[in-house]
Amino acid sequence: MQLIASEKVQSMATSIFTELANKKRQAINKGVDVIDLSVGSPDMAPPDYVVDTLVKYSQDTTRYGYTLKGLDEFHQAVQYFYKKRYDVDINSDDEVLQLMGSQDGLAHLATAIIDPGDYVLVPDPGYPIYEHGVTIAGGSIYPMPLLEDNDFLPKLDEIPVHILEKTKMMIISYPGNPVTALASKGFFEEVVEFAKKHQILVVHDFAYSELIWDGRPSLSFMSVEGAKDVGIEFNSLSKTFNMAGCRIGYAVGNKEALKVLATFKSNIDYGIFYPIQMAAVAALTSDFQVLDEQVKEYEKRRDALLAGLEKAGWKVEKSPATMFVWAKIPAGWSSREFAFALIEKAGVAVVPGDAFGAQGEGYVRMAIVQPSEKLTQAAERIRLFLNTNQPSK
Ligand SMILES: Cc1ncc(COP(=O)(O)O)c(C=O)c1O
Repeated sequence: MQLIASEKVQSMATSIFTELANKKRQAINKGVDVIDLSVGSPDMAPPDYVVDTLVKYSQDTTRYGYTLKGLDEFHQAVQYFYKKRYDVDINSDDEVLQLMGSQDGLAHLATAIIDPGDYVLVPDPGYPIYEHGVTIAGGSIYPMPLLEDNDFLPKLDEIPVHILEKTKMMIISYPGNPVTALASKGFFEEVVEFAKKHQILVVHDFAYSELIWDGRPSLSFMSVEGAKDVGIEFNSLSKTFNMAGCRIGYAVGNKEALKVLATFKSNIDYGIFYPIQMAAVAALTSDFQVLDEQVKEYEKRRDALLAGLEKAGWKVEKSPATMFVWAKIPAGWSSREFAFALIEKAGVAVVPGDAFGAQGEGYVRMAIVQPSEKLTQAAERIRLFLNTNQPSK
C-alpha cells in the first residue's frame, strides 16, 4: 500500500526542521561533536518537592485510572499562582482549563473555534504550532510581522479591514519563541481595545512567564483590565518548573472560550495522570525560591554566550527573557546558509530564523539549554568559524 499523507499534513511538513535534523545527524555520523542549541527543552531538574510528590502518588495503585479533567486541587493551585505571581484574580471553578501542555491548547483551540474562511492573526516569526493549529482547523492565516524597529510588536493599525472582518482570533506571545521581547502594559491595553472593537478572541501564549531576566517584572495579559472579556492565556509547567516531559499546562481567562475548548478536549483525551497533577499542585503552591535561582542561571548562560560571541566580533542583542537568544546574523549570510554551515563546520546546532516565518530571515535562534561552560565553548567554535568562513555571495 502506498500511503499518501493528507493535504493538511503535507502542508505542515516543516522542511527546515527536517533539514536541520538531517544535517545534525550527518555531522554526528561524520564524528563531529555537535553542541546542540537547537531544541528548547529545559536541561535543569524540577524542584525536589515536585519529584517527591510524583513518586509518592505513583506508589498509590488506586491512582492509575483516567482523571478525565483537572482536579479541583489543580484549579485552586492555578488560582493561587496567578494571585501570587501576577496579582490576577482567577476563578478556579470556570476560569481555568487544564491542558496536556500548552501545546495541547495551541494545537486544538482553532479547531474548537475556527471554520474554513475564518482568519487568525499570528505573529511572524512565531512558534510553529500557531500556524499548524489553524491549518488543522482549515482556517486562514494572516501573519503579523514582528520587527525590531517596532520593538517586535505587531502594528495592529496596519492589518487590512477586509482581513479584520473575517478574523476570529489572534495569537500573541510575550515573551515569546523565537522572539524573546517583552510587551508593555500599554500594548496589552491596545490589544484589548482592538479585540473589543473587532470582536476577536485574543490568545496570549505565556509559556515563558517566569523566565524573565535582569529583574524585569512578568506581565500577564490577564492583569490588564478587560482582558478576560476578550482573551485567554496559556501557561505551562514545562519551562517554569522544568516539567516539560510531564505534559501539563493550563489556560486561564474567558470562560466561554475555555468551555468551547474543554468540550472539544473531552472528546479526544481523558485527563492527566493523577500523580502528575499533584506534582503540578506542589510546584504551583511552593515558595517559588527555585524560580529566582533558575533565572540567575539563565542570565549567567546568556551572558556567557553573548560575551563569547562578542569576542568573535558578533555583537548580539541581550535577550530579556525565555531560554533563547534571538540573534541577528552577520551580514552576507542567509539564515539557512549560516545555520547549516555552523553545524557542518563549527559543530554548533542553531535554528535558522526563517523556520519560524518569513520575517525570521536574517536571524538564528539559540537555545541556552547547556551549562555556561558549554556555551562559552560553542561561542569559541563560532569565533573560529567566522575567522575562516565567508558567506557564499
Ligand atoms: C512559545 C511556546 N509556547 C508553547 C510551547 C509548548 O510548551 P508545553 O506544551 O510544553 O507547555 C512551547 C514549547 O517550546 C513554546 O516555546
